[in-house]
Amino acid sequence: MSTTLKELVAQLPSTVKGEPRHIGTAVMPDMLMENAKYADIISTEFDTVCVEHHLKWEPMTKRGECRYDFTEADLIVDWALNKGLKVKGHTLVWHVTSPVNTWLREKTDMEIREQVRRHIHTTCGHFYGRIHSWDVVNEALNPNAQFAKTCFTSNKFTPEEFIGDSFRWAKLADPNALLIYNENKVECSTFAKSKAMYALLTELKKQQVPIDAVGLQSHFDASAVGWKRAATPQQMLEQIDHLGSTLQLGVNVSEIDVRVGKLPLEVRDLAQCAVYGNSMKACYQSKHFDGTTFWGFTDKSTWVTKFYSQDQPLLFDLELNKKPAYDAVFTALQELVEQQQNLEDWTQADWAPKSPNDSLLPSKQQKIADLPDWQV
Ligand code: XIL
Repeated sequence: MSTTLKELVAQLPSTVKGEPRHIGTAVMPDMLMENAKYADIISTEFDTVCVEHHLKWEPMTKRGECRYDFTEADLIVDWALNKGLKVKGHTLVWHVTSPVNTWLREKTDMEIREQVRRHIHTTCGHFYGRIHSWDVVNEALNPNAQFAKTCFTSNKFTPEEFIGDSFRWAKLADPNALLIYNENKVECSTFAKSKAMYALLTELKKQQVPIDAVGLQSHFDASAVGWKRAATPQQMLEQIDHLGSTLQLGVNVSEIDVRVGKLPLEVRDLAQCAVYGNSMKACYQSKHFDGTTFWGFTDKSTWVTKFYSQDQPLLFDLELNKKPAYDAVFTALQELVEQQQNLEDWTQADWAPKSPNDSLLPSKQQKIADLPDWQV
């Protein structure tokens, strides 16, 4: 029986916090309901889904102030739970998809703050017990590494206070969900934006804000140069270990897709396989790495076409068949599993000499353990 992506990831060692890794995909409701093959691939290949757009503030309150319509989000969440998949909530607070251009527009700073608090409690309350982790705040920083000037920033309270409040409200509303700060173009620790994010996270941790993890969006363009160039696999691994070991945060790749449309046709698959395969192989090596969410899995339903240009950024093609990029991710995970198995084999090999101290009492073992090797 063929192995799947999630079956390979399930064989990898747990994170430093003892959690299993995940591998998931963003999901759109119409495709899920209309295309049986789309639904089958999700339940077969992935262990986690993320509601791509319909769990955001603006799409849920199209009918006006505090008039929530959870229909589409519920549809995806309940379908996933029925299939035994976990759900990653995206995203409670993001200025881009808040109702700032509709019913939130006329509000004062303090009224907006209260509306955010109510939104977080309403949404986390509605989905209570069904969402494994929440992207609580998304993209608070703008490309020049400053705090984005949004409807949420105010003279009355600093961005750190506002972000800290959002996490505290989310913790109150759903104490069991993992709480994540999600950001784009922070996949390499030396990026200016990464340094700004690190400073923010350090301050939040200092204020004992209940934050568990960081999401690195990883929207890569394989043809990009300069500051837009995708982080290398080594840079991603270093960033994950840096965030995990110094801030005790889990790290996930939250929205990966790899654009290749600007490359010559003959190198697109080669480039996409290199970026996906090497990035996945690097990230899952870190004990701080929680897992990956592909920002969709088929070129038939990618945000890139609408927000950038015609492209083929994902693992399955327009007919929902596997592309070479799928094989690259599969092979990377398979090699990690085999590498891990080799390590396990060594420690369990029958030739491995049993420690002469195995039969000693723990107290005796401890005394010996305290001595330098040459005295044992
Ligand atoms: C995008 C969705 O993919 C689109 O369907 C929607 O119309 C707009 O939002 N960063 C994010 C995601 O955090 O929420 C965005 O998703 C892509 C950029």
